[in-house]
Amino acid sequence: MAPLEQKVLFILGGGPRIGHSVAKKFLSQGYKVAIGRRNIEKMDLDGVLPVYVDVTKPETIEEAFRKVESRLGVPNAVVYNAAALTFPPEKDPFGVEPAAFTRDLTINVGGAYTALHHATRLARLHNISPLIFIATGNVTPFKVNPLAVTLGPGKSALAHLMSLGSTVYDAKEFRFYFASQVTETGGPVPYPQVSGEAHGEVYWKLANEGRNHWDVRFTVAPDGSTGFA
Ligand SMILES: NC(=O)c1ccc[n+]([C@@H]2O[C@H](COP(=O)([O-])OP(=O)(O)OC[C@H]3O[C@@H](n4cnc5c(N)ncnc54)[C@H](OP(=O)(O)O)[C@@H]3O)[C@@H](O)[C@H]2O)c1
Repeated sequence: MAPLEQKVLFILGGGPRIGHSVAKKFLSQGYKVAIGRRNIEKMDLDGVLPVYVDVTKPETIEEAFRKVESRLGVPNAVVYNAAALTFPPEKDPFGVEPAAFTRDLTINVGGAYTALHHATRLARLHNISPLIFIATGNVTPFKVNPLAVTLGPGKSALAHLMSLGSTVYDAKEFRFYFASQVTETGGPVPYPQVSGEAHGEVYWKLANEGRNHWDVRFTVAPDGSTGFA
């Protein structure tokens, strides 16, 4: 594990739910935390460095990593949480405009690749190990959802990148996780039931204890406690 002064978390695409909850959990454990998003003026989270990022623009991701490094230090933990979904017409998934599909795909996975590139280069350059990279997932890579025509392909590619990273790199250097909250039966979680706090708890466990597989599915009990599926 990196020395204490180097414990830095950078969340790309962090808003009031998962992003803020994960930030609070890591802050409470002594981490320095930066959140990257487009509307940084909407962020009112004490102790977190707001950084402008538009994940559809690779140069803003590179610049954001530079800012986080200079202000907080090199991240040893990175969370990719940005996502986009365009609903298709009923029973017509291919009715989504091609430009919307391309834009959503870039947000769902293109930006994640750029973040993977910079996070791994920086960690190597500064001998930070292990680097933990967590992608916020869902079940769309494993269960087809007709409404997720622009989300599912991006999450599937994101899962592929986490699998690829876990296969090729030594876990002592880089660890990759695709973390998805699921229902007790392994299904998709209705949006209102997605728990930011549970993501914070699980991401903290991943950063500290790790898991032996990149595909991490977890459940949240009515009392808020989390379990691995
Ligand atoms: N397990 C499940 O079944 C499930 C269900 C729902 C959601 N999810 C996943 O949870 C994640 C979202 O969590 P949440 O709803 O709680 O979100 P959140 O952390 O509250 O906010 C996500 C943030 O992403 C930022 N963002 C969007 N587009 C961006 C872009 N182009 N560049 C930079 N930042 C961008 C937005 O901020 P700005 O507008 O300021 O940029 C937004 O505040 C997604 O990955 C989603 O797929 C999983």
